[in-house]
Amino acid sequence: MNKIVILTGAGLSAESGLGTFRDEGGLWAQHRIEDVATPEGFARDPELVVNFYNARRSQAHEATPNAAHHALARLQKDYDGEVILVTQNVDGLHEKAGGSAIHMHGELASALCGACDHRWPAPLEMAPGDPCPSCGAPAARPDIVWFGEVPYHMEDIAAHLFDCTIFAAIGTSGQVYPAAGFVQEALMNGAETVELNLKSTDISGAFAQHHIGPASEIVPAWVESLLT
Ligand code: APR
Repeated sequence: MNKIVILTGAGLSAESGLGTFRDEGGLWAQHRIEDVATPEGFARDPELVVNFYNARRSQAHEATPNAAHHALARLQKDYDGEVILVTQNVDGLHEKAGGSAIHMHGELASALCGACDHRWPAPLEMAPGDPCPSCGAPAARPDIVWFGEVPYHMEDIAAHLFDCTIFAAIGTSGQVYPAAGFVQEALMNGAETVELNLKSTDISGAFAQHHIGPASEIVPAWVESLLT
């Protein structure tokens, strides 16, 4: 049985108007990671962090999937085999396009209790100290994996990398591990490797095939080639 594992990054949602992190003027040029994407930053200034994610949540709420999201959802529906989407993105655009994805860095649409690990659908605007609907502790936080925390679903992802026939990375700079190391795991099991990006990346050398261009153009073309 053919299995394609596809890792997606911020570049996939760029043409839906959601900023990437490391491109010119990206999110990490506007905010310090240590201030808005670490547990220490959240402990130091919960208001700043909650508002950073409130702004991203409402942007993601308004955003619509682009042709690349739709092409990947089509691949999941029509491919003669399994298609596993593993996304580093915290927006819900794969799902809005009718796809399903493993969110290894969490989701803006989800809230997490820092005291009891309960999860619930996040309100558009969260506030520091919101009570957990399960244990009541004033410990609600964005359900986002911050730097220094362990990404979600790593066992499932490792199992998929172990037996995939094709591994593709779309719109990711390959600078953040463990995601940036997935291609090596796929290569060890003999998978075909494909990188789709606007330009070459730190991990381009690990891929056998490359498609260069905007995701909204190269992803539908790549999906078409897989389905015909
Ligand atoms: N089409 C295809 N690729 C694009 C496009 C586009 N229209 N626009 C940008 N890109 C590519 C860039 O060339 C770059 O390689 O998308 C990538 C974006 O890289 P990053 O901003 O680093 O985003 P990502 O790789 O997803 O970051 C990984 O880092 O900060 C953490 O948790 C955060 O999930 C994020 C992780």
